[in-house]
Amino acid sequence: MTKLPDPKGGSVTLDERRSIFSEIEREILNCRGCQLWRSRRNPVPGEGNLQATLMFVGEGPGEQEDLKGRPFVGAAGKLLDQLIETLSLKRKDVFITNIVKCRPPGNRDPLPEEISSCQPFLIGQIGLICPRIICTLGRHAFHTLVDPQKNITRAHGQPTTKDGIIYFPTFHPAAALYHDSVLYQLIEDFQKLKVLLKEV
Ligand code: URA
Repeated sequence: MTKLPDPKGGSVTLDERRSIFSEIEREILNCRGCQLWRSRRNPVPGEGNLQATLMFVGEGPGEQEDLKGRPFVGAAGKLLDQLIETLSLKRKDVFITNIVKCRPPGNRDPLPEEISSCQPFLIGQIGLICPRIICTLGRHAFHTLVDPQKNITRAHGQPTTKDGIIYFPTFHPAAALYHDSVLYQLIEDFQKLKVLLKEV
């Protein structure tokens, strides 16, 4: 894994961040740590502002993301874009990535061994960007980054701080496409997230 300087020290320029990020992208492209590379078309490392205050972490690339090599560009991504705008932000202001960087075939859930094999990339991205807030989208991101025991339906909308980062769990936007009740809760959670962003 790429060795990271300590961005908290404030000594890492945007150019240095870009070059470290490219190195992480290259490692993801060449990764054979699980079997997902065999069936994926493109890896999806993540994209956005490398100095973002807010990072979103989803589950894994779907069909559109796999085709384009970019996160959240399908139907769930359109909804995420709209939700980001409710924060008075644009997509380019935040950083968006996933727990696993390659598409699980047929959009199945990522397996525990796939999640753990891919985790160093996510940890590297978090260490590079040093966001103040990480918004986890759906249960996989919540269980991986925050608490594997807690139920997302209980935990959503409630921030917790770990290692100086505020984790803000909410539902996955894909779930909101099919269930209005989830959509309303997601909108409400983003209202709370907007308040939180103002405080940091
Ligand atoms: N769902 C995810 O979890 N991530 C994406 O990038 C797209 C859909």
